[in-house]
Amino acid sequence: MKELNKKTECLTDSVIRRMTRISMECGAINLSQGFPDFDPPEFIMKRLAEVATAGPHQYTPTWGASNYRAAVAEKVGKFMGLPINPDENVLGTVGSTEAMMATLMAITNPGDKIVIFSPYFENYAAQSIFNSVEPVFVPLNPPAFTFDADRLEEAFKDPKTKAMILCNPSNPSGRVFTKDELQTIADLAIKYDVIIITDEVYEHIIFEPHKHTYIAALPGMWERTICCSSLSKTYSITGWRLGYIVADRPLMDRCKKVHDFLTVCAPSPLQEAVIPGLKAPMSYYKELQDHYTHMRDIFVGGLKDLGFTFTEPEGSYFMMVDISDFSKGKSDVEFCEELARKVGVAAVPGSSFFNEDVNHLARFHFAKKDETLYEALNRLADIRKKM
Ligand SMILES: Cc1ncc(COP(=O)(O)O)c(C=O)c1O
Repeated sequence: MKELNKKTECLTDSVIRRMTRISMECGAINLSQGFPDFDPPEFIMKRLAEVATAGPHQYTPTWGASNYRAAVAEKVGKFMGLPINPDENVLGTVGSTEAMMATLMAITNPGDKIVIFSPYFENYAAQSIFNSVEPVFVPLNPPAFTFDADRLEEAFKDPKTKAMILCNPSNPSGRVFTKDELQTIADLAIKYDVIIITDEVYEHIIFEPHKHTYIAALPGMWERTICCSSLSKTYSITGWRLGYIVADRPLMDRCKKVHDFLTVCAPSPLQEAVIPGLKAPMSYYKELQDHYTHMRDIFVGGLKDLGFTFTEPEGSYFMMVDISDFSKGKSDVEFCEELARKVGVAAVPGSSFFNEDVNHLARFHFAKKDETLYEALNRLADIRKKM
């Protein structure tokens, strides 16, 4: 057989999804891969049932059904405080995963550099490889996960730097960047002519007193930001695979060209069924925030009582926990496997998110029913005995 693609040769499988497989094998509570174990809002499920018989079931226009784009434009415009034109500035995608991939394909050339904060969501490294771009990692230093502006400027200064991927709120660190931090990034983007690609899938999962700022809405940033987001987390529908890109026309027109041939369109019945979600009143987002704050309080409070050390999450549903007291010389990968098999709780080894040599952390997520979280804490109470 002739040689297969060199890029796929060097890719390993996703550590997060591997931990899910291990978790299923040994019946652990899966706090590794981030998805809820509770249902989406009832009004969305009701609409899904209606759509099953009423349709649509065929392709939508490639950019997304017109009512889907109109609803995204209205919702995003309201939260960003910018006028969003559904025909010019919105592209419906197959999750944020496709949005990011289409964006990178649309704007980069082989050999370009992309700035990424480390720790980072693992898709970014794989998508950089697919696009033959070089990731340039700038550390977010634990435990506070803040960055050094001079180090960031060094990365932006390189004429080969085309873009930065900015995950905010951040998976896996749980950071929500302040307006000042985002202004620092925006100033550098403008100074060095760098495009910002946002990954804002956790935009509505923010814990008080933190606030989400859309970098696209800062002065001078709309024309150089490609906003990628998702409905997966906001409406608890990770399996529906719905997302979008919002951007100014010149950038958007390039993204549309890729999306057209990459996926044709996002699933039509699901675009239709999610409309009541996109049109939900502001109270929906407040309730979502309250619900996640409740889950965070259970899990964070429980870990505190058990004597764990961790960085308090500001947003998203992830947190990084220090495992040094329990790992007894094991690598974080060995630790997480053992935790799943012996204690019955699955987490993700922190090193899979870092470019730097960091292996004293594990990522847990807490998008789970109360009883699941209490049972996970119950099992973790035995960690010293069992490991
Ligand atoms: C930071 C981040 N971006 C993107 C995604 C994927 O989003 P989607 O389901 O819309 O593809 C995830 C999923 O866990 C994520 O954590």
